[in-house]
Amino acid sequence: MVDHPLVASRLTLLRNQKSAAETFRRALQELSILLLTEGARSWDTSPLDVETPLRSCQGVVLSQHVVFVPILRAGLGMLDGMLHLIPEARVGHLGLYRDELTLRPVIYYQRLPASIASAQVLLLDPMLATGNSASQAVTILKEKGAQNIQFICVLACPPGIEQLQSQHPDVAIVTAAIDPELNQFGYIVPGLGDAGDRYFGTG
Ligand code: URA
Repeated sequence: MVDHPLVASRLTLLRNQKSAAETFRRALQELSILLLTEGARSWDTSPLDVETPLRSCQGVVLSQHVVFVPILRAGLGMLDGMLHLIPEARVGHLGLYRDELTLRPVIYYQRLPASIASAQVLLLDPMLATGNSASQAVTILKEKGAQNIQFICVLACPPGIEQLQSQHPDVAIVTAAIDPELNQFGYIVPGLGDAGDRYFGTG
């Protein structure tokens, strides 16, 4: 969980049902940058000598290239902000929707960069609810060879965290907050509602 006043204030904008789509979008993009910054804290860097205008000194570069994989559709809302911070990142897409009756994920689209095996992969979905979609998505990424995967979300809840961690204990979860429960429709409570509908204005 990322304990930071900027994270908490952006999350409050997202939670507020009175926030207009424009406010919601900007808050999600800004929050995504903050979550990415937190996730990147653990990344490896390699030393790089640089010449400043005054003398040489040692800097660093990221050791691995970065691949963002938003889970369609709501994960797209996290992508724009992150691409501002790492514009050279590659982007894969995973289309998963949740069957309304079983709450199980159904895959309908998959397009991933070939280089995913050697990349730092960030799987993006604002809501870690049941954890079924996240677990399924990580399984797909691993089948394609991904080894370093982080799951970045805005809100998580205990059942989702338990599901993802039991299936994929190696995948770190970065979240702005952990909410207490899921309702019978699989929504996080208090949550922020349907993240995709609110981001795209389809609610
Ligand atoms: N997906 C959402 O958009 N919201 C939730 O609360 C759970 C899943």
